[in-house]
Amino acid sequence: MQILVIGTGYVGLVAAAGFAEAGHRVLGIDNDAGKIAKIREGVSPIYEPGLDELLARHQASGSLAFSLDLSDGIAAADAAFICVGTPQSEDGSADLQYVLSVAGAIGSAMALRPLDAKPLVVVDKSTVPVGTAARVHAAIAAKTDRPFEVVSNPEFLREGCAIDDFIRPDRVVVGCRTDHAAAVMKGLYGKFLEASGGQWLRMDPPSAELTKYAANAMLALRISFINEIAGLCEKVGADVDFVKQGIGSDHRIGKFFLNPGPGFGGSCFPKDLQALLKVGRENAHPLRALEATVEANRHQKQVLALKVRAHYDCASGAPAPLAGRRFALWGLAFKAHTDDIREAMSMELIDSLASLGARVVVHDFEAMENVKAKLGDRVEYAADFMEACRGADALLIATEWPQYAAADLEKVGGLLKAKVMFDGRNLFRPEAMKAAGWTYHSIGRVT
Ligand code: UGA
Repeated sequence: MQILVIGTGYVGLVAAAGFAEAGHRVLGIDNDAGKIAKIREGVSPIYEPGLDELLARHQASGSLAFSLDLSDGIAAADAAFICVGTPQSEDGSADLQYVLSVAGAIGSAMALRPLDAKPLVVVDKSTVPVGTAARVHAAIAAKTDRPFEVVSNPEFLREGCAIDDFIRPDRVVVGCRTDHAAAVMKGLYGKFLEASGGQWLRMDPPSAELTKYAANAMLALRISFINEIAGLCEKVGADVDFVKQGIGSDHRIGKFFLNPGPGFGGSCFPKDLQALLKVGRENAHPLRALEATVEANRHQKQVLALKVRAHYDCASGAPAPLAGRRFALWGLAFKAHTDDIREAMSMELIDSLASLGARVVVHDFEAMENVKAKLGDRVEYAADFMEACRGADALLIATEWPQYAAADLEKVGGLLKAKVMFDGRNLFRPEAMKAAGWTYHSIGRVT
């Protein structure tokens, strides 16, 4: 099949490369000339494991190309995917201006399609509020009377394993009203679904749109829940690892996505929760459990800073109780395997420590450049994660990079002034740390 993928951000690039991998002919479109030039040279604007290789291989074979102009490919396209950004507006809702402007551009370019062409399947892949498919339909229909259909096909990719999630989906959700649109979508995803055994879920567009928000909201709620239980574990002398195992073995609960941590971040959960809360308010249906999830996460993002304050007894309210102290911080990205620092807890932690007078020396495997652009010389940047520890009062861990979990702790302890660790990701077992002479603070376990 031939498709257009409009928008070469995270979702668009992964979809373009993924559909090329499935054997389709893909034209990726973006109005940013610099970005398109870079992608054509084989430089991906985002870090995602495996993406560069797919972009290079399929551009070389000719099945994947990029252009600034969607009229280049619309005549022969079976489908056009809208993958542009939906940033958060000030009131929390998703800003649809880019989605609707692409819809208008598709409408204008429809005149280039042959008169006997089958209806173009226009796919909303950006995360959009319920009702967007209807608005996209109206925006295209305002410009053309050629046949087209609008489908909602939300994506469930996780940053850091997006290629794998795309190629081995556990489900493909397609909100559409006609068999033609369903057949095109099945043709596009069929190969991956067959190989992965994933589910094909056809539904109406509003249900597909709501599925996306509901999935992220439920995952976020799950994390806030386990984080609250972890906090309670610390108060009552329980161990969240055991509690997690105990509840996760109930198949109705399941063992995945139950790791307590320093609060969820990233570009999806925080933004999507706000957008869903807004949908609830607009429909006079407040989503109280989600409001609590957001509030619990706001608190959780302070959890490491609170542990540091308690350890160094900074409750007195003195202006700079950590003045003269220096902390090593391992991990800046909002989770491992990404360079993304949007809504990352590390940023709040750095702010808190700096406001108490401390110096912070940071390390991350992928996010250093993004942090340099954001924080400049407000922190020190370590050449490697061991070096970050040299002469520091304590080590803090905010991101679960596997290299940190495999670090030689004897060596780390030798570089630090004292064997003190604040581990926001529970990378180590408390009893082993205690036996090795560490003062070890983690989430939901008592040392
Ligand atoms: C999330 C969803 O998992 C994807 O299914 C969805 O497609 C994506 O949002 C999106 O809407 O585009 P992502 O934001 O990449 O993906 O990251 P996750 O792996 O879900 O992690 C989100 C946050 O939760 C991170 O801060 C992570 O550290 C935290 N988390 C995750 C935990 O604290 N504990 C866990 O057990 C899992």
